[in-house]
Amino acid sequence: MSGNKVLELKDVNKSFGSKHVINNLSLSLNKGEILSIIGPSGAGKTTLMRIIAGLEKADSGHFFHYGQEFDPAMRENHLVGMVFQDYNLFPNLTVEQNITLAPIMVNKLDQKKAADLATQVMQQLEISGLAKSYPYQLSGGQKQRVAIARALLMKPEILCYDEPTSALDPSLVNKVKKIFFDLKKKGVTQIVITHDHDFGKAVADKILDVKAAGNFEK
Ligand SMILES: Nc1ncnc2c1ncn2[C@@H]1O[C@H](COP(=O)(O)OP(=O)(O)OP(=O)(O)O)[C@@H](O)[C@H]1O
Ligand SMILES: [Mg+2]
Repeated sequence: MSGNKVLELKDVNKSFGSKHVINNLSLSLNKGEILSIIGPSGAGKTTLMRIIAGLEKADSGHFFHYGQEFDPAMRENHLVGMVFQDYNLFPNLTVEQNITLAPIMVNKLDQKKAADLATQVMQQLEISGLAKSYPYQLSGGQKQRVAIARALLMKPEILCYDEPTSALDPSLVNKVKKIFFDLKKKGVTQIVITHDHDFGKAVADKILDVKAAGNFEK
C-alpha cells in the first residue's frame, strides 16, 4: 500500500570515506505524520535529513513519493522544507524579507502575493509584530519561528527540523510542540531531529532511534 505514503526510503546507504554513516536504512512516512529521529551526536541524523532534502547524495538506496520512485537531488518542486539548527537567516534582511525572498526569487511569486502569504503565516506563528525587525533583534525562539515561517512559505509537503529545541527554554519548547501539532492538523508531514528523547517521544507518531554512530535502527 503506497496510497498514503508521502515518503518511503529503502536500503539507503551513505559513507564518508571509510565511515559508514547510514547503513541500509528503510522507513516510511504517511501524510500528516510526525517522525522523530532521536540519537547521539555524529550518528548521521543531519546527513539523513540533507539526503532527503537533496542537499547530499546517498551512495545507494531508493526513494518513493506516493509509490513513485524519485531522485531527491533532481526533484524540482519542494517536497522538503528545512529548518536548520542555526536558522540561517539573512542578517541584512528584515523578518518579512527573510520569509518572502525564496518564494519571490525561486517560486516567482509576485511581491504582493508573497507578502499576503507571509502575513498569514506570521499570524499563525505569532510573530506578526516582528515583520520589520532584523534577525539580531530577535530571541532564539523568535528566530526559529521566522525560520519555520520561511520554510512554510515554500509550501513543502514535508517539513524537517534539525534540533528545534536545542536553543530554547522549557516554556518555548511547549510553544514549539504546539506549532508542530497545529501544522499536523493542517496535514503537514514533519520530521524532527533531536537529542531530546522526551521531546522526540512527546511529538512523534513514529520514532527512528539511532542507537549508535553509523547504525540506524528502527
Ligand atoms: N560532508 C561531510 N564530509 C565528511 N564527513 C561528514 C560530512 N558530513 C558529516 N560527516 C560525518 O558523518 C557523521 C554524521 O554526521 P551528522 O552531522 O549527520 O551527525 P548528527 O547525527 O547530525 O550529529 P549531531 O547530533 O552532532 O548534529 C559524523 O561523523 C560527521 O563527521
Ligand atoms: Mg546534526
